[in-house]
Amino acid sequence: MSERLFLHAAQVITCAGAPRARRGAELREAGVERGAAVLVRGDRIAAVGPQEVILRGAPDAEIVDCGGRVLMPGLVDSHTHAIFGKPRYEEQEMRAAGHDYMAIAAAGGGIHSSVRDVRQRSEDELVALALPRLRRLASHGTTTLEVKSGYGLSLDDELKMLRTIRRLSALLPMRLVPTFLGAHEIPQEARARTEGRREYVDVIVRQMIPAVASEGLASFADVFCEPGVFTVDETREILTAARQAGLGLKLHADELRPGGGAELAAELGAVSADHLAAISESGIRALAGASTVATLLPGTMLFLGKTRQAPARELVEAGAAIALASDFNPGTSPTPNFPLVLTLGVSQLHLSVAEVVVAATVNGAAALGLAGEVGQLAPGFSADLALFDIEDVREIPYWYGDRRCHRSWVRGNEVHH
Ligand code: NIG
Ligand code: FE
Repeated sequence: MSERLFLHAAQVITCAGAPRARRGAELREAGVERGAAVLVRGDRIAAVGPQEVILRGAPDAEIVDCGGRVLMPGLVDSHTHAIFGKPRYEEQEMRAAGHDYMAIAAAGGGIHSSVRDVRQRSEDELVALALPRLRRLASHGTTTLEVKSGYGLSLDDELKMLRTIRRLSALLPMRLVPTFLGAHEIPQEARARTEGRREYVDVIVRQMIPAVASEGLASFADVFCEPGVFTVDETREILTAARQAGLGLKLHADELRPGGGAELAAELGAVSADHLAAISESGIRALAGASTVATLLPGTMLFLGKTRQAPARELVEAGAAIALASDFNPGTSPTPNFPLVLTLGVSQLHLSVAEVVVAATVNGAAALGLAGEVGQLAPGFSADLALFDIEDVREIPYWYGDRRCHRSWVRGNEVHH
């Protein structure tokens, strides 16, 4: 089996430890090693340790000279809506002029506008549009990313989006994790009729979930549980059906107004509750006592022009596991730059550098049920690595908006150079 030895890194950030979400003091341990080497055998990390020791044990390995840069686990972006048609730049100026995100949606813009657009496009077109976008995400160090459907909102269009993700998985070296988000919005044609809402929930439960599960098109189901979108009861009904069909559960919860979404995520044992900028005290307590990862998306609040951010410090102090993600999507977070989100984690969420690094690796992996597979440079883990053109890990959030990712690998194969 081919062996590759990563030598001469200024720092190797291992994030090594238990293969599960980190909480509390564990979040402050990113595992910063100097003079360390990483040995990759085939698609796995074989060893991490002092350079001389590792070198002696693998004299024939191909050498990758890290050139005094920082080597770390590839970034795990556990929340994106990366499949879409046209960008929605017109909404930026509308928001700047005082029109709020929910008001734009109520007028038929927002998610509805992306739905009209995606419905008109073929799977081939969606693949062609997504490929360069996903490569941009990879060029910033992302090696695993979750990708949601949710701009189809009809059986055929949701399946089209999920099949697009499946084709992209075969075309790209990155690891893609598909999530079914048929409950992203009530489609406009259903909102137009009193019984439309109930009928749409039935379509999700009786038609979409069984079809998605039988074709094996998604690992998770997600619902936008928010006042004005799906209620807590509708969300419970949809996610209970998804669980029975064998899907893992995720929620968009308490993004703009507190609505009991975080509490529901804990009650259902969802793998993650995402957004949480408006989480309540009882929501914080619920997540602190649950296995559910609190996934924070500070880029979204920044781009929407909101001053409020998720109470990250309270969540950490209460004992919740937090992850960071980009929420890459055409409406509320069009950045492909995941390290920029780490900057916001420090400057807006008041997290330490170690906390944002663990939140974007180990805990991102846990938010995808992959904590035993990716997110750590430790023996047995997938050989997913990112090499950053910096000398100290603290430079990742520091050079904000810059692209410092120099090279990256997934399963031992080079993704970006
Ligand atoms: O995570 N909040 C709901 N969904 C997306 C936004 C999608 C859109 O506006 O197109 C989010 O921010
Ligand atoms: Fe989202």
